[in-house]
Amino acid sequence: MKGLLLAGGHGTRLRPLTFTGNKHMIPIANRPMLYYGLEHLKQAGVSEVAVILGPITEGIREGIGDGRQFGLRVEYVTQGEPLGLAHAVKCARSFLGDDPFLMYLGDNLLEDGPGPYLDAFRSGSPSAVVGATTVRDPSHYGVVELDEQGRIVTIEEKPKRPRSHLALVGVYLFTPEVHEIIDGLSPSARGELEITDAIRALSEKTHRVRVIRLSGWWKDTGQVADILEANERVLATRPPSFFEVHGEVHPGARIIGHVGIGPGSVVEEGATVRGPTVVGANVRIGAGAYVGPFVAIGDGATVRQAEIDRSILMENATVDLPTRIVDSIIGRGTSLRQRTQRPAGQSFVLGDSSQVNL
Ligand code: G1P
Repeated sequence: MKGLLLAGGHGTRLRPLTFTGNKHMIPIANRPMLYYGLEHLKQAGVSEVAVILGPITEGIREGIGDGRQFGLRVEYVTQGEPLGLAHAVKCARSFLGDDPFLMYLGDNLLEDGPGPYLDAFRSGSPSAVVGATTVRDPSHYGVVELDEQGRIVTIEEKPKRPRSHLALVGVYLFTPEVHEIIDGLSPSARGELEITDAIRALSEKTHRVRVIRLSGWWKDTGQVADILEANERVLATRPPSFFEVHGEVHPGARIIGHVGIGPGSVVEEGATVRGPTVVGANVRIGAGAYVGPFVAIGDGATVRQAEIDRSILMENATVDLPTRIVDSIIGRGTSLRQRTQRPAGQSFVLGDSSQVNL
């Protein structure tokens, strides 16, 4: 079985973070989002993966390289403009050959991993296995309606009036039967070759598309609120072994619950770090700071004075002011400091599409 990992798209809803890099490289619990997908492909026993690149590629090749660090052989396929998920499969046609493949949308995080897909694939001979889970507002997703035997009745992409609450998760297992179906697709109203249309046509043709219900949490990280929720969920569900303390914790500092601290980091006297929280390498958490729960701090960052709750601080960010910061994503090298010069007041240097909520 081969792996496809999709990392295209513009990530417009995540600006300004996506002006300087691909959204799939935004860190969740201090690891680029895309790495979770790679990890799951590896767990599935895949050894060759094609990463599908879109218009913004910064950071991806540099981070993943030839895949050796993940125990995978990774190659790259350029999709260029995002013309749909089925179009991405088409672009990878020669890589995929006649093998079945596990296709993973790089912005999807799911607790269950690939196990349930493989189990369904091995029991019976489905032409595809797709995952579905109950959501409150299904109109943002592909939506599937099932009969009592769990067979597909309808399947639609982002319907205005959804016929069920079952959303399609962005992980799919396909047999090569899908290629012929994709060759026969026409673009949807939004101009894309939709994977949902391919699944519908495949199901109509073979009656062998298995829909599995996933019970663990699932997150499609399209917006800032989703990234923060994904960060929280990942931190809440990582095993205790993920949280190792390598840095220096002063005897007068407090560490509460599961906290990981990278090498070279220092938690000073009078600081508190509350888990689940992960702190990278060479980070300084100064006296008076209260960090956590659900916080991820990237390498080289500094926190002084502030309280930080349910937030992501990326590499080399600095927060040094007596305030409480919640539900925030602070980009690489950004600094939030107290103004000491006159005239007194709050002063900002913000990039395009930045957000400040005081
Ligand atoms: C895609 C699929 C949709 C699926 C979703 C899951 O939508 O087209 O069917 O439910 O991924 O993340 P997108 O988020 O790319 O618009």
